[in-house]
Amino acid sequence: MLRSATAIKSLAARKSATSLYSTTSSRGMKILAILYDGGKAAEQEPRLLGTTENKLGLSDWLKSMGHEYVVSSDKEGPDSVFQKEIADAEIVITTPFHPGYLTRDIMEKAKNLKLCVTAGVGSDHIDLNAAVENKIQVLEVTGSNVTSVAEHVVMSILLLVRNFTPAHEMIERGDWKVSDIARNAFDLEGKVIGTIGAGRIGYRVLQRLVPFDPKELLYFDYNPLPEKAAKEIKARRVEDLKEFVSQCDVVTVNTPLHEGTMGLVNEELLKHFKKGSWLVNTARGAICDKDAVAAALKNGPLNGYAGDVWNVQPAPKDHIWRTMKNPLGGGNGMVPHYSGTTLDAQARYANGVRSILENYFGDKPQEPVNIIVGKSGYETKAYGQRGSEKAKHGFSSS
Ligand code: NAI
Repeated sequence: MLRSATAIKSLAARKSATSLYSTTSSRGMKILAILYDGGKAAEQEPRLLGTTENKLGLSDWLKSMGHEYVVSSDKEGPDSVFQKEIADAEIVITTPFHPGYLTRDIMEKAKNLKLCVTAGVGSDHIDLNAAVENKIQVLEVTGSNVTSVAEHVVMSILLLVRNFTPAHEMIERGDWKVSDIARNAFDLEGKVIGTIGAGRIGYRVLQRLVPFDPKELLYFDYNPLPEKAAKEIKARRVEDLKEFVSQCDVVTVNTPLHEGTMGLVNEELLKHFKKGSWLVNTARGAICDKDAVAAALKNGPLNGYAGDVWNVQPAPKDHIWRTMKNPLGGGNGMVPHYSGTTLDAQARYANGVRSILENYFGDKPQEPVNIIVGKSGYETKAYGQRGSEKAKHGFSSS
């Protein structure tokens, strides 16, 4: 499905100013995709599939079946391509890296909408309760980028604990003062590391930390890990969140964003963190209170904060998380939202979106692990405790 660089260039040249590209047909259905603009990088690198230029590699395939495929990055406001084109779309594909926000209002205007597909993992940009009420299915490509994120979390933990970023910045400046860095550099060995959320990503993070010989691996999750999985990595469950954070040197957040996790790490909870601890959040920005985190980094107890997710994306130029520091001038490991969109991950979620569409077109059952909201409501246990018997546990090796 990878398009050649020449073909991509010619496609890009045919794009309109709004980055809208549409193949029309009276026979097929209308599919709208909201993706980010890749610009020159996407023209030069066809494996950047999640961009408006490369269209998840689906354009020719959908066109050959007579479907209309509208792709745009323009998503804000009532005059945006997103809000206009959704009026008669049957399927919407969006990516957490540049989400089209499917609010209740928008869903109620989208009379033809039957299926929302998340190209990646994390469907908090969709009002899931409204999707249930409007009988709109929500699917994501479960597992497609969980290893990508887990690797990023481990990297971020290491760079905070070892005080890496200020050390590198010192080298770029032409300076050399070992003690200025070493005074706040530690080993991961012997530390207590815990994840809030022990699903696919959280579990993989803990698994990857075992060889560092931590003092203990902890987790906080309303879904306990299967006994065998917990035993394999010697992970201990702590059922009270304040108690959990008070025991951890490093906390990593790996839950979906939903009513129960919005602002979960706030001023009150931060008071219970260990003095000098580190916090890594690659789950969703809004799980951590922006100002409370910045204050905790400046005045304690946090020694570092890292992640790739922000409460607003793209983050405004003056967002405090871009520049916040601990009193020693370090402790910031923030990057743009990319941990789950490595080229390897893009290939997996593009393929996954295609499989979901194939099942939909062929009226075949979807992979149960991919279903967030199915034909009769929530099918997952990961977006809050709703008590559905058939709902799947967040933890899975798949
Ligand atoms: P998952 O569904 O496998 O696991 C989520 C776990 O969180 C479940 O075990 C669930 O029980 C737990 N959980 C939910 N609410 C909780 C709460 N209030 N307290 C404690 N635990 C709670 O999901 P997966 O694949 O591990 O992904 C987690 C999240 O990571 C996604 O929903 C998404 O928001 C984020 N993500 C970020 C990416 C990035 O590029 N930065 C890429 C992929 C996912």
